[in-house]
Amino acid sequence: MNQQELSKLCHDMSLEEKLGQLLQLEGFFFQEGGVMTGPEQRMGLEENEKEMCGSVLNVWGANNVKRIQDIIMAAQPHHIPALFMLDVIHGFRTIAPAPIAQGCTFDPKMIYEGARVAAKESAVSGVHVTFAPMADLSRDARWGRVMESTGEDKYLNSMCTRAMVKGFQGENLADPYSVGACVKHFAAYGLPEGGRDYNTVELSNRTLFEDYLPAYQAGIEAGACSVMTSFNTLDRIPSSVNEWLMRDVLRDKMGFNGVLISDYNAIGEAMKHGIAEDAKEAGKLAMKAGVDIEMMSHCYGSSIKELIAEGEIDEELVDEAVMRILTLKNELGLFENPYKDASEAEEIAYILCKKHRDTMRKLSEESFVLLENDGILPLKAKGQKIAFIGPYTKKQDLHSVWSIIADEKDSKSLADVVPKMFGGNKYTFESGCNTVEVDTVFNGFNSTVAYEYDTKEAEEAAIINAVESAKKADVVVMPLGEHRLQTGEAASYGELKLPEKQLELLNRVYEVNHNIVVVLFNGRPLDLRSVKSKAKAILEVWLPGTEGASAIANTLFGKNNPSGHLSMSFPYSVGQVPVHYDSFSTGRPKGEESSNVKFCSRYIDLPNTPLYPFGHGLSYTKFKYGEVSLDKDTLTMTESDVIEVSVPVTNCGEVDGTEVVQMYIQDVKGSVVRPVRELKAFERVELKAGETKIVRFAITEPMLRFYDIRMNYTSEAGMFKVFVGGDSTCEMEIKFWLNR
Ligand code: BGC
Ligand code: BGC
Repeated sequence: MNQQELSKLCHDMSLEEKLGQLLQLEGFFFQEGGVMTGPEQRMGLEENEKEMCGSVLNVWGANNVKRIQDIIMAAQPHHIPALFMLDVIHGFRTIAPAPIAQGCTFDPKMIYEGARVAAKESAVSGVHVTFAPMADLSRDARWGRVMESTGEDKYLNSMCTRAMVKGFQGENLADPYSVGACVKHFAAYGLPEGGRDYNTVELSNRTLFEDYLPAYQAGIEAGACSVMTSFNTLDRIPSSVNEWLMRDVLRDKMGFNGVLISDYNAIGEAMKHGIAEDAKEAGKLAMKAGVDIEMMSHCYGSSIKELIAEGEIDEELVDEAVMRILTLKNELGLFENPYKDASEAEEIAYILCKKHRDTMRKLSEESFVLLENDGILPLKAKGQKIAFIGPYTKKQDLHSVWSIIADEKDSKSLADVVPKMFGGNKYTFESGCNTVEVDTVFNGFNSTVAYEYDTKEAEEAAIINAVESAKKADVVVMPLGEHRLQTGEAASYGELKLPEKQLELLNRVYEVNHNIVVVLFNGRPLDLRSVKSKAKAILEVWLPGTEGASAIANTLFGKNNPSGHLSMSFPYSVGQVPVHYDSFSTGRPKGEESSNVKFCSRYIDLPNTPLYPFGHGLSYTKFKYGEVSLDKDTLTMTESDVIEVSVPVTNCGEVDGTEVVQMYIQDVKGSVVRPVRELKAFERVELKAGETKIVRFAITEPMLRFYDIRMNYTSEAGMFKVFVGGDSTCEMEIKFWLNR
């Protein structure tokens, strides 16, 4: 359709039809043989109102989607196709590593490839738009949703968000296998007070604009067709009804003109927040804020008609929202082909195909972070007795809760793959204990826990057996970690430790064998002090997805040399949280970590620095950095002026490897206090054993801009320091000046 035809369609629609377009319902409303059920009645839907809805969430499968599309199109006077949306967060059925792990690759190209795979599988399964990427900056490991983010850094997040949007959407939304992206959760959902999900967010506008908005902005600039509101308040106003945030900031300042969708029931929650008296007031506020689609609450449908009649809302506002929704449907080509790519034959051909598995395996391998290694890794390919002990030894389920379609039968466990891939050793495989205590109750979606040991006695017997195996082994590999239900939405934790039983297993193995390699499965940074003190190596593998086990085996045995670097700092203890590298200097900086000066900014019982900093990651080889140099030491305010930074990096070990070379800049003095350093560029550099490459970065004036004392986004003349190295604590520095 052209613009004129779209406008005509909108003009011809009745108000009821228009309001239908604004409503998004769960797929379960359309279950076969369905009658008006509990949820429908609770939502206050009128008979036939559900078929009038403009979009559906949480349905997939070509067949199923087509069936529901037929029902909806037949019921609507103008036969408008519905939009099908789903949470394809890290892979559809071939599961990618969790986003926090993807951030650790520092490899936007690979992240893009992973999103392409997810797009293709979801597109053939009938999905039009995914609820991803999550661009929320995350600095608080207590918040369960850090797993869904690419970490604590605005620049890295921006690069990852852009890569995901481009990967999902491809060149053009109407192209085969393109799905729309939805940048979420706008805004600053990643900063709930105390790390407790859905909690209040308090931050200054300066921090909001400078640190929290850039990743959303990157997604918008990459062309994301939709944005989702967040559950939290900002400046004490729930985002989903915040007119300033949605109109002045998102639309006017950030230039977003796509579809804005509320989070699940978030408009309705304005009542619980105590900012709307009833659904009518909530609907009015959200409509004024310019929220187009209402997900799973019924404030628009139940009251906009009345609000228009009373003159409280201008029908033009409704038209504006409807036009945005119709435009998106048109961009997806749904008016020509309402099923888009849904195809049973292609579901069979593409879902879980070898190419998709290979891409996801590579993404997993790149995301692993070697936190510690005294040389025990890589394991030898033959002649060793290796005991695998830990609850992730036999687990096939290596993905997060946000892998709705995943089926553990699609993946293998370490016990399955290791003997097949590396048959030269003697192996034993034991779980040793459950991931979580037998009586742990998780509720919510996907919440069944399969316990290998049903009673405490059975678990104790398993530990005793495991310790016996450990005694006989040359090396003990311990796959430990959080249960996947321990991270994700509504999974905040006040403690950041591994489950007690697993720590006990580690301690008891340590009593008989010190050659311990811990392989860590988790969705958030943890306090690893007690693990570090016992393990000779720690390999962080996060929630690695469908091909996780083979990726881990390749890494343990050196076929893959780890190259991931942390996308989030690992705190020394929960008391430091939030801890992030781009902090500010106080008036009383601590100086050396070992300093014991009393009147400075420090903890008496903890260091200031995290256990593992942002950007940290070891390799099986060693990299040496030569001297950093600049081609000149002054930069002018002209946008096109460039300083070139170069640094020789050498692989001085025995094996080939990949280093993530990172460049940080500090603006030494500003009209407001500036961070101690900020990541401004990075590059993954592959180096053969013995090889040296010169790595070059460009510094330009726009990279130095920030919100100055008057809230102008600008740079200020003066001295800057450049730091280059393999993590955020790198010390090699060189100065330059920005001249007026
Ligand atoms: C989450 C969103 C998600 C939506 C739809 C909400 O609870 O906050 O991230 O996209 O549900 O499933
Ligand atoms: C303290 C003040 C005190 C001042 C003079 C400072 O270090 O912060 O509270 O009044 O010293 O003793």
